[in-house]
Amino acid sequence: MALTLWKDYKTVKVEKDDGTTWVTLNRPEKRNAMNPQLHYDMLEALTELEVDKETQVVVLTGAGPSWCAGQDLREYFRGTDNNALERRKASWASQEWRWRRLFYFPKPTIAMVNGFCFGGAFTPLIACDFAIASDTATFGLSEINWGIFPGGLVSRVLVDAMSYRDAMWYIMTGDPFDGKRAAEVKLVNFSVPPEKLREETIKLADKLKKKNPAVLRAAKEVYKHCRTMDYSQAEEYMSAKGTALRLTDPEKGRETGMEQFLDKKTYRPGLGEYKR
Ligand code: ACO
Repeated sequence: MALTLWKDYKTVKVEKDDGTTWVTLNRPEKRNAMNPQLHYDMLEALTELEVDKETQVVVLTGAGPSWCAGQDLREYFRGTDNNALERRKASWASQEWRWRRLFYFPKPTIAMVNGFCFGGAFTPLIACDFAIASDTATFGLSEINWGIFPGGLVSRVLVDAMSYRDAMWYIMTGDPFDGKRAAEVKLVNFSVPPEKLREETIKLADKLKKKNPAVLRAAKEVYKHCRTMDYSQAEEYMSAKGTALRLTDPEKGRETGMEQFLDKKTYRPGLGEYKR
């Protein structure tokens, strides 16, 4: 692995390695708590990476012992209490990157949870397509412990990512839980010992890079958009999306796939890797 520094924002570091782009929240001394600057930096970074040709997969992680300690209580909350304009700007940027941009990011996204993950950090965690945690990471909906509820979309996105019982438990008790428990309740795909975290993340990124990117993008968009549609809307949308994909996929994956299976008999799509 040969990481190359691509952009060093004030609070976010972006490095690249062979199609995988590592986006690191970079305020380790504050456990990567999200201050307004971090929201502005992340919004800019994601906007650039959306159109960056070298980026095939994005990994979101944190510097130091933390993934992200949630909103910065000092700078995001208290610091903007008497500054309505800054609060509005920070709030828009915060919602925009943590949910809309990340959830619908046109390339695969992996949250590599190396440590603390609290409160408002659950939104980008759930927005990522995949999440892999260290067994020793600590998660918590700590809001209840200091006088607020999980807001800023957290309570809404939890509906998609946790069972009713588990969500109620952690929202109302504020109990912290580790990476193994996060995997048990399916908040993350799986957890691994800390020394295996990077290796397992790279394995998944490499697997995704072998897929047809246009199809991968359509597959995630279809699944994510359909969640809020009724059946007939979903049917209509998927039919139109399928037609659009056939016209726009530069690799003509559908034709190639069928040819490989039906004519050349070179592979079985149910059993093997897609051959580009
Ligand atoms: N907001 C502001 N500053 C923070 C935050 C935060 N969310 N989390 C950590 N920091 C700061 C600390 O104030 C401290 O700053 P200082 O050195 O200037 O005093 C520094 O980061 C290091 O924090 P420590 O508490 O000393 O580090 P430790 O490793 O012992 O604990 C932990 C880390 C568990 C993350 C602890 O800092 C903590 O509980 N933070 C709050 C987590 C939280 O409840 N987040 C949800 C916020 S609400 C929301 O997101 C909507």
